[in-house]
Order: sequence, then structure tokens, then C-alpha cells
Amino acid sequence: MPKIRRSMHGHWSSGVVFVLAATGSAVGLGNLWRFPYLVGESGGGAFVLIYLLCILLVGTPIMIAEVMLGRRGRRSPINSLRVIAREEGLSPNWQLLGWMGVVAGFMILSFYSVVGGWTLFYSVEALQGAFSGISGNQAGQVFAGLVDSAWLVVGWHTAFILILFVIVAAGVRKGLQRAVTILMPMLFALLVLLVLHGMTTGGFAATVQFMFKPDFSVVDATTVLTALGQAFFTLSLGMGAIMVYGAYLPSSTSIPGTTAWIVGMDTLTAIIAGLAIFPIVFAANMEPAQGTSLVFITLPVVFGEIPFGFVLGVMFFALLTLAAVTSGISLLEPAVAYITEVSRLRRAWAAAAVTAAIWLMGVAAGLSLNIWSDVRLLPFMDQGIFDMLEFISSNILLPLGGLLTAVFVAWCMTRKTVLSELDLHSHGQTYKIWLFATRYIAPTAVILVFLHSIGLF
Ligand code: PFF
Repeated sequence: MPKIRRSMHGHWSSGVVFVLAATGSAVGLGNLWRFPYLVGESGGGAFVLIYLLCILLVGTPIMIAEVMLGRRGRRSPINSLRVIAREEGLSPNWQLLGWMGVVAGFMILSFYSVVGGWTLFYSVEALQGAFSGISGNQAGQVFAGLVDSAWLVVGWHTAFILILFVIVAAGVRKGLQRAVTILMPMLFALLVLLVLHGMTTGGFAATVQFMFKPDFSVVDATTVLTALGQAFFTLSLGMGAIMVYGAYLPSSTSIPGTTAWIVGMDTLTAIIAGLAIFPIVFAANMEPAQGTSLVFITLPVVFGEIPFGFVLGVMFFALLTLAAVTSGISLLEPAVAYITEVSRLRRAWAAAAVTAAIWLMGVAAGLSLNIWSDVRLLPFMDQGIFDMLEFISSNILLPLGGLLTAVFVAWCMTRKTVLSELDLHSHGQTYKIWLFATRYIAPTAVILVFLHSIGLF
């Protein structure tokens, strides 16, 4: 059995680069757009608490499992799972888990790139000084003007997809790695600045109360399912993105150690984003539960009123776009890596094929916000295409992918392989805790939440 395999796609130059790349994947619209709007819609503190528990008890162990599988297989998720299953004497059907991930990735990227398009649009608006002195109402109109227009939505979605295509086609390594090292800390610093501004608005106390004082009376099965789905979404788990990045990880790097960094930075960013956004909402008497428009309506208002708001606004939306790009490329990578492994296609052509398919789905998602708002693809789900793609991928496919990953690693693979890949001892604390969480806690949590949300439990 080959112990030290090499990936045909190349390797990260160090463990630190892997942490940056994986953090680039994890930190994105999920933290800055999706997390605040879900907190707003799901009633605040209780949701935040359940979300944090999901990150700690379900997300972290599964991330370790995914990175481990990727590094063991050194291939795209589909092929890594196929090879590992063979070596471990398990059914080749385990590769279907990789296929499910590809489907989830397509679905996520199709709506993700629509929102990525919005961030581009907002960067340009900021650059034109459109937010100067803007009120909450006017900001609402700017957003409505964007999403109500089929042309604008599809046009900006196309621009965003093109950026992803260029980067993935060129190979992820050089330019992007360097960019991420400088730009992600800048984004973080800007967020902290916004939190400081939030503290001066008079809405800060209400924010702390809203985000950290749990009111369990507003919790129902959907809240828990949403929190679990968001934990997977924000950590890029359950679809192979982290697995494929793990495939390029140097053999000597500690997997639990790097995972702790990635999870820590991702969680901190989400909390800080909440602390930056809700003070504005409360200070201006806006509604926290306004859904997908939340950050796009609140932030222009702040940039319109603070000193240097013009420069900060341009920087913020440009960095937000970048955060979306670094996540978007990780959504493309599993499928692109697979195609280059099984066909003679060059990476650029594989990237072109995948992005073209996702572009098309994204057009449908974008149009469902305006001219196709009445279209329902699934008769039993009363949701437009955008919402349906978001719900099925994040709340069903990602947790299901995570569940199967946990079962594969903690119940099916041999302890010897797992220990040697994780470089842990069977009697060490880290291993014991990880194994317990992956074997029992993560699968039970996912199954219970599923059963509960379909009303069976
Ligand atoms: N984690 C990304 C975010 O929070 O924006 C989104 C994402 C990337 C989800 C990659 C899933 C994935 F595989």
C-alpha cells in the first residue's frame, strides 16, 4: 500500500499555505452575508449558541476527517474515496459520496456566484460614491434596483463566474496564495473597524443582547437544521472542498493543529461580522429579519456616514468580493480536479466545462429573484429556484455528506490507517476525543436534526 503518494495537481508549499487556502475557502459570503442574515431571521442568541455547538461538536471533527481523507487519497474527492475504499477493503460505492459532493458544489456555486455578482456590483457602486449620505430606505432601493433587474443580476453573476474561471484555469497556487496572505487580514481589520464604529452607534448594547442572550422560545426544528447547515456551509464541509485541499497538504503537517486554526478564524470572522452589522440595524430601527438583503442594505448606510467612508466602502466590497472568490474556487476544485484526473482534458478546459454548467444554473437562480419568481421546480417545496438551491444544498446535502464522511472514517476505515494519517497515538487524548465526536456525536446530531425537521421525532 503506497504510504507517501503525490498529488498530480501539485502540493501547497507548506502547512501555513494550506491554512490560508482553507481559511480562504471557509471565510466568505457564508460568514459575512449568510451568517448575519440567518441570525437575524432565526431570532439571535439561541441560533448563535446552537451554531457554535454545531461548529465545535460536528464541524471540527468532520473537518479533521475530510482533510485526512484528502491527504490519504491525494486525488479529487471522488477518486480519493474510491482508492481508499479499495485499500481498506470497502465497497467502491463510497465514491458516490464524492459525486454527491460535486452535485452539492454545483448547486451552491450557482447561487453563491449570484451573490458574488452582487458584491461586484456594490464594489462599483461604492467606487462611484453612490453611498454618500444614503438612508436605510435609499439603500433598500439600491438593492431592489439590482435584484429586480434580470439583466443586472445575470450580468454581474456572469462577471463573477468569469473571475473564478480565470483563476481556477490558471491553477490556484501563485497569485491567489499571495493575494490571500495580504488581503484576508485586511478584510478582518476592516471588520474590526466596523465593530468599533458600531460601538459608537447606540445599537451595540442591543446587538450584544440579540446575539448572545439566547431566547429558546424562538427555536424550532428549522432553527436547529439551519444552524447545522450553516456550520457545514461556513466551514466548507460535506462536499469535498476541504478534502480536495487536504489532497495537496504536505505529509508532515499536523491535521488537528491546522484544523483548529481554520475553524477558529472562520468562527471569529462570523461573530465579528455580526457585531459589525447588527449595531447599524438596531441604531437605525431596521428589521434584523430582512433576509438575504441584510448586509447589502446596512453596510452602505454606514459607509455613507462615517469619515473616510468612501475609501473604506470601496475597500470593503472589493475585499468581500475577494473572500467570495477564494471560496468560489474551492467549490469548483473538486469537479475540476476529477475531470483532469479521468480525462485528457487540460485544467483550463475542465474549468471551462464546469463553470459553463454552473453559470447556466446560476442564471436560473438569478432569474428566480425577478422574472421567474413564480417558478417552482419541486412541487413539494414552495420556494423559488434560488432559495430551493440554497436549502437543499446547505441544509440537506452538506449535512448528509458530513454524516457519511463521519461514518466512513470512524466506523469503516481501519484504526491503523486513520492513526497513521493523523499521526496520532491510539491512547492520546486528541485521538480519543476526535474519535468519540466523529463516531457518535456528529452522526447522532445530524440524524436527530434530520428526523426532527421532517417531523418524525
Ligand atoms: N465556506 C464558504 C463561505 O462561508 O462563504 C462557502 C463554501 C465554500 C461552502 C466551499 C462550501 C464549500 F465547499
